[in-house]
Amino acid sequence: MSIQTIHVRTDPEYDVVIGPGLLQECGSRLRGAVPLCHMAVVTDSNVAPLYLETVKSSLREAGYQVSACVFPAGEGSKNFDTLSKILEFLAEEQLTRTDCVAALGGGVTGDMAGLAAALYLRGVKYVQLPTTLLSAVDSSVGGKTAIDLKAGKNLAGAFLQPSAVICDTDCLKTLPQDVFADGAAEALKTGVLCSEALFARMEFGLRVSELEEIIAQCVAFKAGVVERDEKEQGERKLLNLGHTIGHAIEKCSGFTIPHGHAVAAGLAIMTRAAENLGWMTGESKQALEAERIESAVETLGLPSAAEYPPAALAQAALRDKKRAGDSITIVVPSKIGRCELKTIPVTELQSIIEAGWALE
Ligand code: GLY
Repeated sequence: MSIQTIHVRTDPEYDVVIGPGLLQECGSRLRGAVPLCHMAVVTDSNVAPLYLETVKSSLREAGYQVSACVFPAGEGSKNFDTLSKILEFLAEEQLTRTDCVAALGGGVTGDMAGLAAALYLRGVKYVQLPTTLLSAVDSSVGGKTAIDLKAGKNLAGAFLQPSAVICDTDCLKTLPQDVFADGAAEALKTGVLCSEALFARMEFGLRVSELEEIIAQCVAFKAGVVERDEKEQGERKLLNLGHTIGHAIEKCSGFTIPHGHAVAAGLAIMTRAAENLGWMTGESKQALEAERIESAVETLGLPSAAEYPPAALAQAALRDKKRAGDSITIVVPSKIGRCELKTIPVTELQSIIEAGWALE
């Protein structure tokens, strides 16, 4: 299998390397991006037994000094308490400004370890070693770091680009089905955003043999968006397709519904709303475009609806960080492969959710 490298031109610039067997050689592969230093690996209790020893050995063999901080797995850990423990760990280990944090795991680990790196000593380097499909196709790239607050998802965070991303696709082949489906949701979102061909590759199921190619396409698209709009002033908002409603679903569920599942339902609800409100502009019949998206979501083992009523979802969404004063920018599918940003008064959000809430 080939190894693909995508270069992201931000500050710092970095490579995203995608392919099988990469964790075993992560130490030597990081040497170009991160000079020898103390590498503090941050990971969770699910990932540590699987990959921590491999990563530590590879880093040590390459000449890095290595320590590891393991926190309890799950979205419930993505809070100030865990962040503070990671920061205290970095201080106890006496990391200095020339040292580096390595985030080994999924989206929760990457977001939180990245935020710790952004805060510790006002900023040290970090690298991403994604082990889930969701972090491979989306969260490990682009430099968004965050923790959740009681009021909502990812409400405290910072932008800090990683110095390298190494995505070992072998890790993805043994993921539990629902964790794999979470990542499929973000990949499908990318297809709806930028490419009918990418969408079509996944709409009847995501073949493991195509994983590297699909991840590379998602990362290449995201890299371009992030290069043009690193701090989400405009175009990057498109990457939030399905996320305003998705984050509201996560919040209403007390964060028991995983991110990708919530985003999939958010994507399906927004698609039905776009169809019912006449916002879809596809050349083929609008209903067909919407049906394809809804049916792809279901084929990938993801929910296409939410049990929470539109009023509750709208209420939760109003605490979303995408709100700006009395307006909020939503992402609306025009057709498969193209979406538009629409800034609406917050008072209209509930009726938009109502327009797409019910399954047809
Ligand atoms: N996950 C959306 C973004 O990175 O902008």
